[in-house]
Amino acid sequence: MHGPALWQQLQSCALVIERVLKGASATQVLDDVRADWRPGVQSLSYVVMRHLGTAQALRQFLAPKAPKPAADALLLTALALLVDERQRYDPHTLVNQAVEAAKKQRSTLPLASFINGCLRRCLREQAALMGQVMQQPQARWNHPAWWIARLQHEQPEHWETILQANNQQAPMVLRVNRRHLSRDAYLAQLQEAGIDAWPQDEHGVMLLKPRPVSEIPGFVQGQVSVQDTAAQLAAPLLLQGMNLGSSSRVLDACAAPGGKTAHLLELCDAPVTALEIDAQRAEKITQGLQRLGLKAEVITADAANTDSWWDGELFDAMLVDAPCTASGIVKRHPDVRWLRRETDIAQLAAQQSRLLQALWPLLKPGGRLLYCTCSVFRAEGQDQIDAFLTHNTQARLLPSPGHLMPVLGVDAPKLTDNPQDVHDGFYYALLEKVRA
Ligand SMILES: C[S@@+](CC[C@H](N)C(=O)[O-])C[C@H]1O[C@@H](n2cnc3c(N)ncnc32)[C@H](O)[C@@H]1O
Repeated sequence: MHGPALWQQLQSCALVIERVLKGASATQVLDDVRADWRPGVQSLSYVVMRHLGTAQALRQFLAPKAPKPAADALLLTALALLVDERQRYDPHTLVNQAVEAAKKQRSTLPLASFINGCLRRCLREQAALMGQVMQQPQARWNHPAWWIARLQHEQPEHWETILQANNQQAPMVLRVNRRHLSRDAYLAQLQEAGIDAWPQDEHGVMLLKPRPVSEIPGFVQGQVSVQDTAAQLAAPLLLQGMNLGSSSRVLDACAAPGGKTAHLLELCDAPVTALEIDAQRAEKITQGLQRLGLKAEVITADAANTDSWWDGELFDAMLVDAPCTASGIVKRHPDVRWLRRETDIAQLAAQQSRLLQALWPLLKPGGRLLYCTCSVFRAEGQDQIDAFLTHNTQARLLPSPGHLMPVLGVDAPKLTDNPQDVHDGFYYALLEKVRA
């Protein structure tokens, strides 16, 4: 069976880009792409989203008045792929196929010769045009200008490395289910299957090449789950030195899709209550746990509205993996940077604060709460916890990782030689409730 022609892939990819630019998440949009085309269209649209700032600046230069959204998305798709440093396609073939894609669709057909003209001019004058547009931060870094400015302010020494890391492809990391086998036993299994992999922290394994979960040894049997190295820090951090048993109570307050709930259950025998506000997402927790042979009490509720779900028994340990901008997982979700608005940060910080305030009274004296977000912005991390500590004198900050940036301690060019240092951006603060 033949795969789609390049023009068909470009057409599907442009549709993804058009909808993302209108505010839809790429994951949601990709669900509508026919299943056998999805992996190819996803990988192509991710490349485009990683070059969208440059493509938008070029399009602005070539055509100051943007064409209608469908034609604009196709033009941006082709421009992004033309400037992609990996040059996946011969530039002339790419232009021909983009024009073919325009001709084959009613919404873009009238603009096919306009698209042709823009792309051919780009081919002729690419070096000069790039020299011009790369002066603009959004084109240079492929992130919105407000995002770049914020990082420059908050991370004056690391902002360039963080942005560079965000534009790379995320590695695939697995978490080994300790209840089934050890990390080293699983690594041996991978070696036998001829799959190159490295150990990561306590329970992690990084694969040299990402692959569908159906091709991962032991996945269906619940031996492993997909989870980034930074996210794998949560459960051990919360549980370390706590000695929780079957009579203890653990709360995972923002649990879906359930990666950290599962890790908690893999590591301790305490019952876990998993809360999730979104009923559809809550189902994913149960499905994931079934695959791993684990069980939690899954409740659909607003965690901050404690009257609606709490039975009055205090918790020994709580994980608050709060909703956030997801600015730390841009490598994995390249659409995030184009979907967020700067005003989202304050709105999300208010939700995070509401969750912390509402849940803290439910923690036993001597108990621990781990607050985390997959954000690199201080308002959702350090500033949030500083404010909380100021207003809650019973809260003590225990040694915690704080802000983990997408790249830690290595320069971007070294990344491919040193996969151990590649992880998502996260914030972690471990709080203890001081006994009165
Ligand atoms: C960062 S995700 C959690 C990821 C999860 N801990 C994991 O590791 O798989 C945050 C989750 O919190 C949920 N959420 C947002 N506001 C909530 C609230 N007030 N109460 C409970 N869940 C909430 C979101 O729907 C989302 O699924």
